[in-house]
Amino acid sequence: MIIGIPKEIKNNENRVALTPAGAKEFVKRGHVVYLQTNAGEGSGFSDEEYIGAGAKILSSAEEIFAIAEMIMKVKEPIEQEYSLIKKDQLVFTYFHFASYEPLAHAMIKTGAVCLAYETVEREDRSLPLLVPMSEVAGRMAIQEGAKYLEKPLKGRGILLGGVPGVMPAKVLILGGGVVGTNAAKMAAGMGADVIIADVNINRLRYLDDVMPKNVRTLVSNEYVLRELVKTHDLIIGGVLVPGAKAPKLITRDMLKTMRPGTVLVDVAVDQGGCIETCKPTTHENPTFIIDDVVHYCVANMPGAVPYTSTLALTNSTLPYALKLAGRGWKNACKENADLEKGLNVILGKVVYKAVADAFNLPYTDVKAFLG
Ligand SMILES: NC(=O)c1ccc[n+]([C@@H]2O[C@H](COP(=O)([O-])OP(=O)(O)OC[C@H]3O[C@@H](n4cnc5c(N)ncnc54)[C@H](O)[C@@H]3O)[C@@H](O)[C@H]2O)c1
Repeated sequence: MIIGIPKEIKNNENRVALTPAGAKEFVKRGHVVYLQTNAGEGSGFSDEEYIGAGAKILSSAEEIFAIAEMIMKVKEPIEQEYSLIKKDQLVFTYFHFASYEPLAHAMIKTGAVCLAYETVEREDRSLPLLVPMSEVAGRMAIQEGAKYLEKPLKGRGILLGGVPGVMPAKVLILGGGVVGTNAAKMAAGMGADVIIADVNINRLRYLDDVMPKNVRTLVSNEYVLRELVKTHDLIIGGVLVPGAKAPKLITRDMLKTMRPGTVLVDVAVDQGGCIETCKPTTHENPTFIIDDVVHYCVANMPGAVPYTSTLALTNSTLPYALKLAGRGWKNACKENADLEKGLNVILGKVVYKAVADAFNLPYTDVKAFLG
């Protein structure tokens, strides 16, 4: 198969959909890989490294889209890419269709096959192509939180791990899923006093087993959160109710009860945020302050660490991409139920129920294409 990797053009997106190591895996299996020049630059991979792995370089996105049978990207196609996508072309990337209606209409019009990273789903309902970005964001949440707790950045001026003779900072993590677990590991490693609050008691049982002694677990409810926010220095929002907006666990009135310089990092901002006062921010301008409480609400946290994020993402996407290239999308999806769930739009028809429902579009059962 001919695989095309365009350079990402979304604002501040430095990731790339394939590493040189990934290119080599395709080439080894007899596929041909074309990359747009400098596509890997933002993640620290040069054209020479890709050429060394057997890939070929083309100078424009137009050439990449024109030649490729499968396009691999990171972010959803943006307006200037819509007209480059061809009928029957397989596009494997994050789409997040339900959050942007014009994209759904544009992809229906292209007649392409859109396989979305975010809906590839395992039998146990986990989302293998979302996990790596949650791992990155969870770990980063503590790094950013620790930074904004510094006085010059308007924080309380407390060191996360304390020092001998001085108590460490208190970290409250809302949600003990992928983000929460990774945040807890980092905070605990830095010596902070950590609480993970979740509504799932079985998850808390598991975390209690595997986490170090400075991480404690608590069932989350409004009563306990109201008490905890008064004394915690750093609060991480990492809850998720699949398919729904995040519940508002930290409300506007709770801010007044927090100590000045408390830092809130709402990782769940992409699902509306679990902190009422949260609104999406960017890496250029990541924080704002309300009632002396610092809010960090960057919606694409992994974008700040493109080297790590690209490797983490491609570690997870590559096995699926190799199946698609080896068997073609139809056979690969018939043989692999995870991939079948990733199909969102096929040749002008919406085959993912939630996307059809979101915009009142006709829904076609994916079996109509897979038989
Ligand atoms: N901002 C970013 O750059 C970025 C990056 C990656 C992920 N995210 C977002 O982070 C959020 C968390 O992702 P995840 O992968 O950890 O999800 P996850 O499904 O692994 O974990 C979510 C956890 O929240 C818990 N939960 C649900 N309702 C709760 C409540 N009322 N109180 C306490 N806990 C509750 C669940 O039991 C679960 O353990 C998602 O919205 C995800 O999209 C954001």
